[in-house]
Amino acid sequence: MSKITAAITAVGAYVPEYVLTNQILETMVDTNDEWITSRTGIKERRILKEEGKGTSFLAIKAAQDLINKRGIDPKEIELVIVATATPDMKAASTAAFTATQIGAVNAFSFDLEAACSSFLFGMSTAARYIESGKYKNVLLIGADKNSSMINYEDRATCIIFGDGAGAVLFEPNEENLGLQDEYLRSDGSGRDFLQATYGGSSYPTTVDAIEKGAHYVFQDGKTVFKNAVSRMADVAVKILERNNLTNDDIAWLAAHQANKRIVDATANRIDLDKDKVMMNIEKYGNTTSATLPLLLNDYESQLKKGDNIVFAAFGGGFTWGSIYLKWAYNS
Ligand code: UT7
Repeated sequence: MSKITAAITAVGAYVPEYVLTNQILETMVDTNDEWITSRTGIKERRILKEEGKGTSFLAIKAAQDLINKRGIDPKEIELVIVATATPDMKAASTAAFTATQIGAVNAFSFDLEAACSSFLFGMSTAARYIESGKYKNVLLIGADKNSSMINYEDRATCIIFGDGAGAVLFEPNEENLGLQDEYLRSDGSGRDFLQATYGGSSYPTTVDAIEKGAHYVFQDGKTVFKNAVSRMADVAVKILERNNLTNDDIAWLAAHQANKRIVDATANRIDLDKDKVMMNIEKYGNTTSATLPLLLNDYESQLKKGDNIVFAAFGGGFTWGSIYLKWAYNS
C-alpha cells in the first residue's frame, strides 16, 4: 500500500464587510497613507463591527464557504481545528461552537494558539491526524478578530491588524501530494516584544489595567521585524535545502502577511521571482491566523496540481516555521 499523505482538497474564506482604509485611519491617529503603504504594504483592512460577534462568526462563515464549494456533508467532518489568537471566550472552546454551528456533529474539535503561526502549526497538526490513517476529513480554520484587542489610539498597532478567516480541508492522498516536510520553531524569550499583557491568567483584567490600556496588544515593532525577517527566511532556506529544492522548483511562496517588507525579504533570501510570491496584505492587513488560508483562497484559481508551495510564518511568542506542500488539485 502506498504511503498516506495529507492533502489540501478545498479552500474557503470570509472577511467582514466593513473596510478600514488608510484614509480613515488618518482621521483616527497621527499617520498617513504614504507611511503605512511604504512601511507595510497595507492599504486597507476588514473589521467585524457587529456587537456580540466574535471569531467564531468569521470561522463559521469561512467553513460554510468551503462546505458549499466542496459540496461535502458536514457530518463527514471528523475533526475541526480553529487556529486563533482571539478565541470567542475564555474556557469555552471556539472550535466546539464553530463545529456545531456548521453541522459537523460527528466531529471533535479544539482551538490551537500559536499567535501568527497558529495556522501553520495547525497544518502540521491536521496532517498528523490524516497520516495516522484514522481520519479522512479534517477541517482547519484560521480565524481572528484582531480588532477585539487593538487600541485604535495606538498608531504602532492599529494600522497593521485586520479581521478575517480562511478554511482548508485536509484529506488522505495516495499520489504523494500534500504536506511533504515541515520545520517548526519557537523561542519564549520573544514574548516581551509582542503581547497583550492583561486579560490572561498571569494578569487578570483589572479596572486599573483597562484604564491604562494594558489589555490591548503591545508590539515593539522593530524587534519583531528584525526577528521575523531573519527567522522566517532561515526556515524557508532550511526547507529548500532539506528537500533538495532550488528556486526553480518552487511554484509559490505563501508567507504570513505581517508586513510586505518581511515577505519580500524572505522571497529575496530564496531568490524567488516576484510573480511567485502570494501577496494580499494590501487588502486585509495582518489577520494573524487567517493570512495563509486567505492567500490560498485568493490564489486558488492559479494553483495547479503538483505545484510546490513553500509556506512560512512568524508570530508572537516567538513562534515560526516553514512547511513544504504539494498542491493536490486544479480548480
Ligand atoms: O504578525 C506578527 C509579527 N508582526 C510583525 O511581523 C510586525 C513587525 N514589525 C513591523 O512590521 C514594523 O516594525 C512596523 C510596521 C510595526 C513599524 O515599522 P518600522 O519601519 O519598524 O517603524 P518604527 O517603529 O521604527 O518607526 C519609525 C518612525 C518613528 O518615528 P521617528 O522616531 O523616526 O521620528 C515612529 O514614531 O515612524 C513613526 N511611526 C509612524 N508614523 C506614521 C510609527 N508608527 C507610525 C504610523 N504612522 N502608524
